[in-house]
Amino acid sequence: MNEITLLDREFSVYLTEDEIQSRVTALAEKISEDLKGQDVLFFGILNGVFLFAADIIRQISLNAHISFIKLASYDGTSSTGKIKELIGWNEDITGKTVVVLEDIVDTGSTLERVIGELKLRKAADIKICTLLFKPEAYTKDIPIDYIGFEIPNSFVVGYGLDYDGYGRNLKAIYKLTK
Ligand code: IMP
Ligand code: MG
Repeated sequence: MNEITLLDREFSVYLTEDEIQSRVTALAEKISEDLKGQDVLFFGILNGVFLFAADIIRQISLNAHISFIKLASYDGTSSTGKIKELIGWNEDITGKTVVVLEDIVDTGSTLERVIGELKLRKAADIKICTLLFKPEAYTKDIPIDYIGFEIPNSFVVGYGLDYDGYGRNLKAIYKLTK
């Protein structure tokens, strides 16, 4: 299944299931090594991260908690720039090592908002791990500690990422074809 259609758009395969899974394993090993001996809170940003979070957390060999918050800033295929509601802050973050898990960092607005909240809530150490990163779209200067893949500035779906709600259940990641 190299080409797919979702609603009015066509997409072709960009990262296969195997490529994604081996990168996820490598990220999990690196994080487990870097944070060895620490008690870590993994903080996933829903909805897009649900598959990446499920896959990476099962390969993390640390004493870990996992929690999620929900926050959306995206409409169709272009970032609205507006940050919507933020729900689910029910963990005590004070003094903790937190690893923020993201499916994709685009402009970085979502990340900036989440990092701001974590600092207000006095996290001791904050690391950021994203499966995908669009360097050309990034407008912030917050360093990203762990990146799965740097990708061009085009729209992608699959493996948790959606196009107007569709495509999250795809095992591979697909790129919009013009
Ligand atoms: P940012 O706040 O601009 O960095 O956007 C981050 C959020 O927008 C991500 O967590 C995704 O939910 C969504 N997003 C950004 N780029 C894409 C894309 O190419 N496909 C699907 N969703 C995207
Ligand atoms: Mg997201």
